[in-house]
Amino acid sequence: MRRKTVVANWKMHGNLASNRQLLEGYVERLSSLAHVDVVVCVPYPYLAQAQLLLKDTAIAWGAQNLSKDPVGAFTGEVSASMLRDFGATHVIIGHSERATAYCESDENVATKFMQAKVHGITPILCVGETLIEREAGVMDLVVAKQLDTIINTYGASVFADAIISYEPIWAIGTGLAATPVQAQSMHEFIRGRISALDEAAAQSVKILYGGSVNPQNAVQLFVSQDIDGGLIGRCSLTAQEFEGICRAAN
Ligand code: 13P
Repeated sequence: MRRKTVVANWKMHGNLASNRQLLEGYVERLSSLAHVDVVVCVPYPYLAQAQLLLKDTAIAWGAQNLSKDPVGAFTGEVSASMLRDFGATHVIIGHSERATAYCESDENVATKFMQAKVHGITPILCVGETLIEREAGVMDLVVAKQLDTIINTYGASVFADAIISYEPIWAIGTGLAATPVQAQSMHEFIRGRISALDEAAAQSVKILYGGSVNPQNAVQLFVSQDIDGGLIGRCSLTAQEFEGICRAAN
């Protein structure tokens, strides 16, 4: 039985004062939840603040991106070892907002995935299709291609103890979550693709669902066999709503 994981993705929200309030709210509301792992992925400048406020709690913290390179002349980039310096244990990789706005390729995403792994940071790999792709019925092909870029380069075993988040692009920030049936079906497909190559990795990889998760729909999503928790955008920005989702997973 895989423990559920709930990850907050703050995206580009917050400031020192509001973050403090939010993180203190998380600590107060979530510390009694013993059966769920909680992670908060903050903007880079606030990693030190997350470390300061969360270091003696059960809540882990991480970033929303990292460099594909370990060190060097890469202005504006942040390396895996820099994330480690601030106690980050997780990093989101390949979020569709980055693919769309910053032209991030599947190949770059695969390299970043390995950068995280070799530095002992759990990668949270985002995959998912657009609405047009779903309506055309090719969502499995699209997600398979996203996974295969990593599998073909590094092998399926790299998914052992990693996290994949299925985030249909049409469900992100729209209020229109995938139904539990749609999500479970894709999660089963993802696990099956890894299982065909490495059964142990398929059983240990956590597959989260992301896209308009809220305290009302969380239970229905999380009871599905292959849904191991959620990656939460908007509802992670208020402690009360985030608590509702974490309780559902707990
Ligand atoms: P929302 O929860 O706001 O739909 O965002 C989902 C997401 O993109 C998490 O990474």
